Amino acid sequence: MSIYILGIESSCDDTSAAVLQNTRMLSSVIANQEVHQKFGGVVPELASRAHQQNIIPVVEVALQKAKITKNQLSAVAFTRGPGLLGSLLVGTSFAKAFAMGLGIPIIEVNHLKAHILSHFVEDDAQQNHPEFPFLCLTVSGGHTQIVKVNSASNMEILGKTIDDAAGEAFDKAAKIMGLPYPGGPEIDKLAGTGNPLAFSFPEPRIGNLDFSFSGLKTSFLYFLRDRLKEDDDFIEKHKADLAASIQHTIISILMKKLRMAVKQTGLTQVAIAGGVSANSGLRHAIEMESEAGDWKAFLPPFKYTTDNAAMIAVAGYFKYLDGEFTSQDITPYARGGF
Ligand code: KG4
Ligand code: ZN
Repeated sequence: MSIYILGIESSCDDTSAAVLQNTRMLSSVIANQEVHQKFGGVVPELASRAHQQNIIPVVEVALQKAKITKNQLSAVAFTRGPGLLGSLLVGTSFAKAFAMGLGIPIIEVNHLKAHILSHFVEDDAQQNHPEFPFLCLTVSGGHTQIVKVNSASNMEILGKTIDDAAGEAFDKAAKIMGLPYPGGPEIDKLAGTGNPLAFSFPEPRIGNLDFSFSGLKTSFLYFLRDRLKEDDDFIEKHKADLAASIQHTIISILMKKLRMAVKQTGLTQVAIAGGVSANSGLRHAIEMESEAGDWKAFLPPFKYTTDNAAMIAVAGYFKYLDGEFTSQDITPYARGGF
C-alpha cells in the first residue's frame, strides 16, 4: 500500500514542502528567503512574514511536481520545533488547517530527528541508508549533537554543544572575516585553496562527548584583531589560509568526539546530518576514516544536508506506520523536544 505524506518545514528561513510515497521522494520544493542576507543573519519577524507569503505556492508546486492531488494525501507532517516560534507557527497552522480540510491526520516532527532520518529518503541520489542502530553527528546552525539512533523513534543524545553550534562557529568566523551570511559555505569554498595548517587555534578541553565552540570564536577574533593592528590587509591577504585553518580546527574538534563515540558504543555505522554536513572538509575526513576501515560512513546528498521538507515527510512516514498522530490543539516549541 502506498502512503503519501506531505511534509512542511518552516523552522528557520526556508519555506519547504515535499511529497513522499512511502520513503520515496516525489517532490521537494524549497523557497529560500533572500531578505535576510543584507542583515547578516536571519531576522525572525521577516522570516515569519516570508513563510506566510511562500507557504501556499510552495505546497502547490510540491503537489504538482509529485503529480498527485491533495485528496491522495494520507497525512501532513510538519516541523513542530525547535526553531523560531513565529516561523514554526506558520507551518503548524498551515498543516492543521490543510489536514482538517482534507480530513486527514497531522503528524508533528522534531526538526533534529528529521535531519537524522533524512538518510532514509529514497531517490536517485540516495539509495542506501544505515541500519539501526547507528551513530549520527548532527551539525547545523543551531545544534551539534552525537546521537545513538536505535530506531526511527528511539534516539539517545550522547553528547552535545554546551555553547555555540558548529554551524555558528563557521558563521561567526566568516562574519569576523567580513564574509557574507551564511558564512559556512563561504569558508568551505575559500578553504579549498588554503593551507589548513597555516594558523593554529586552541581546541577546547571539555570532557565526555560534549562540544564547545565559543572559545574558538573568541580566539579567532583576538588573533585577527592583533594581526590587523600590524597589517590592515591581513584578512584579505590570508583569507584562504584563515578559512582553511578555522575549518580544520572545527573538523578536528568534531572528529575527535566522533571517534570517541565509536569507541565507547562499538557502533561502526556513522552518519552525518544537518547544514554543516555539506562541508567538504568534514565529508572528506569522515570518508577517510571509512576507507581506513574504522567505520562505514553515510553522507547525505547535498540537497538533504540543509533544511528541507523531505526529511520532515520521512520522519512523518515512520510515525504514520506507528499510528503516532498529533492532536489539533498542538502548539510549536522553540527549544528542546528531542
Ligand atoms: O541545518 P541547517 O540548514 O539549519 C539549521 O537547522 O540550523 O544548517 C545551517 C548551517 C549554517 O550555519 C551554515 O553556515 C552551515 O549550516 N553550512 C555549512 C555549509 N553549508 C551550510 N557550514 C560549513 N560548510 C558548508 N558547506
Ligand atoms: Zn536544520
